[in-house]
Order: sequence, then structure tokens, then C-alpha cells
Amino acid sequence: MTTVITAEMLAMIKGQYQLQWNGTHGVIHWSRVFENGIRLAEQEGVNVRVVQLFSIFHDSRRENEHRDKGHGRRGAELAAEFRDYLPINDEEFLLLTTACELHTSAATHVNRTVQACFDSDRLDLGRVGIIPDPQYLCTPLAKEKNIIDWAYDRSLHHKLAPQPFGLAGDEE
Ligand SMILES: [Fe+2]
Ligand SMILES: [Fe+2]
Repeated sequence: MTTVITAEMLAMIKGQYQLQWNGTHGVIHWSRVFENGIRLAEQEGVNVRVVQLFSIFHDSRRENEHRDKGHGRRGAELAAEFRDYLPINDEEFLLLTTACELHTSAATHVNRTVQACFDSDRLDLGRVGIIPDPQYLCTPLAKEKNIIDWAYDRSLHHKLAPQPFGLAGDEE
């Protein structure tokens, strides 16, 4: 697995993050969303670079840990600010910003990559006491019981994923 996320990119996002870095919607959550996305990218039509970048941008501009209306759009805006650092083409960038913007407001989307982004986030709901429901997941793999169980078990432990974002160093 090759990561498109760099320590520098993560540091820039951290530099502007307004909530607790290790909080409910912070880097620990993002590190699992990344892993979920990698797994879901085994499916045909899922762009692995987009799902990776979604993990670090989708909640990057939250202003509270509750129902923060508009945080998806703000996350997309941050991705636009960092556009020059992102190793993706314009088509991929549009998928990234679409997924960020709609990740809480849309049930699903016509594009498979956007669907996988939604799923990678929703599979981590165990951390707030919600068992992911296949009804609210979009891609066939995410709906499988073994994937839901795998994601749910990890979501219960509040710790950074091993080698978060595919980076070798100690990002925290
Ligand atoms: Fe979110
Ligand atoms: Fe999230």
C-alpha cells in the first residue's frame, strides 16, 4: 500500500485544527477511517488516493464534537487551500471535495469512490456507541458482516492505528 499522505500535510492540517487532536473527531478517528478506506478500495471503481485524502480532510475543520453543520463543506475548502500539495488530478480532486462536502448530509452518491469515502467514516461509528448499520452503508464490501465487525472492534479502542496513514514515523 502506497500512501499519498505526508507528515508535512498532516502537520499543516493539525496546525489549523480547532478541536482536541486526540478527540472524538480528531486524528485517531482519521487513522481508522484511512484503514477502512484502504480496505474498501479493494473494490472495483474505488480510487485509493481519494479515500486516503478524505480521511484527513473530512473532519479537519470541525468546530465542535457534536452536530457541526457545514463542517464537511469547510473540510472541502481546506482541501482546496492545500490543492497544490495534493498528488491527484482535477477529476480526483472533485471527488475528494464532493465526498467531504456531502459526507454527513447525503445518504449515498452515484460515484463508487464517494460511496467508499462515506462508508470509511460510517464504519468508525462504534467510537460514539453506534454499531454500523448496513442500511446506511453504500458499497457491497462495507455491508459485509466481517468488515463491519472488523471496523467496529477497532473503533472501540481510543488509540491511533499502527503506522497511521501509512507513515512510518510517530504521528500523533
Ligand atoms: Fe464528519
Ligand atoms: Fe468522521
